[in-house]
Amino acid sequence: MSDDIRLAAIRAGAVPAGGDEGRDLVAPPALSSARSYPDLDALDAAMEADPRVYRRYSNESVALLEATLAALETPGGGEAPVARVTASGQAALLLLVSAAAMSGRRRVVLVRPCYGATEALLVGPLAALGMATTVVDLPVDGGADAGALVAAVGGPDVAVVVVEIVTNPLLTVVDVPAVAAAARACGAVCLVDSTFATPFLFQPLAHGADLVLHSLTKHLGGHSDVLGGVALASPQSEAAGWLDATSRSLGAVLSPFDAWLTLRGLRTAPLRVERGNATAAALASALAGHPGVVAVHHPAVRGGADAALAARLLPRGIGPMLSIDVRGGRSGAGRVVRALDGIRLAPTLGDVSTTVSHPATTSHRNFSAQDRVALGISDGLLRFSIGIEDEATLLAELTSALTAGG
Ligand SMILES: Cc1ncc(COP(=O)(O)O)c(C=O)c1O
Repeated sequence: MSDDIRLAAIRAGAVPAGGDEGRDLVAPPALSSARSYPDLDALDAAMEADPRVYRRYSNESVALLEATLAALETPGGGEAPVARVTASGQAALLLLVSAAAMSGRRRVVLVRPCYGATEALLVGPLAALGMATTVVDLPVDGGADAGALVAAVGGPDVAVVVVEIVTNPLLTVVDVPAVAAAARACGAVCLVDSTFATPFLFQPLAHGADLVLHSLTKHLGGHSDVLGGVALASPQSEAAGWLDATSRSLGAVLSPFDAWLTLRGLRTAPLRVERGNATAAALASALAGHPGVVAVHHPAVRGGADAALAARLLPRGIGPMLSIDVRGGRSGAGRVVRALDGIRLAPTLGDVSTTVSHPATTSHRNFSAQDRVALGISDGLLRFSIGIEDEATLLAELTSALTAGG
């Protein structure tokens, strides 16, 4: 992780040094929903030039968070992307797909595996509004040429190709540069959901992507007290020009208090992500031979083409996630969850402390059992979001729960 990126996160929201003595060390949240003006001319001028006039357009806390998140995606100090923070990760997806659709193209290519609600938004409300979706399935055991598979379904009607760099929930890695090249070849843009990797481990814009999405609810917020998202567009992309106006119209913007909490979470995000990332990889290897485990889903254990791709695109690791197929299907998973001591079951990820989720019940519950099997999501699959606890503590808790559950 570059020092610039760590610094931008660690100092997020800090009031710059200098100026008057006795200033706040950290910018307070700016909560007002609008500003007032002395007369019509002043209001007219503000409506033209100052987005902070009304909170749906912008706000100091929101603008500070957007500038920080844009800096995290701009390694080496190039031109920063346009960033808009949104009411959730889903709202960021809606905003980015809407901005891409301003091109007049009416089809999305969705690369699976991916978060279940991503597909649900595309094939549900967006399909009803006239946006078609073509799904491209990458085999779970890796080795597929993702670029060729996307190119095979491309065409002049494709607005955007949507892909996750580290996929939810099986933690496979997708060849984003190849997918982005295939998108470009048909005149479409490539949108990377980088929620699992975070900007500290992967920067999509440096790998050919045009648009980036993070759920701020997860590792970046990091404390399970924020629901938010960010939509970023490369300054070169046509969609960047649409993002501001589209965001103002859709109105699914982040509240300033959530922006302020996210800035606070961001300050420790590099440390939390580094720590969870290292612990997840170590636990993956340590649990691989456990008798209660059917399969460990992590490139550190999977090896082969997936591990090679992970080493090429994510040399510092894939992030703080670890998925495990436990013996005994749903009832086995239920027993393991009940036997866990401090690791809590919740339909989310990215907390300071370790949590566990059951994809078949949560992120992928809208799929039929048959589809889940085809996607490699078994009823015994547990997805762990590794926090900052000691590795030894987590290993002891997990081995004991797996033994009790098996
Ligand atoms: C990979 C991924 N992208 C996007 C989202 C959506 O984020 P949010 O719940 O903030 O809308 C999630 C939520 O779990 C996710 O896992």
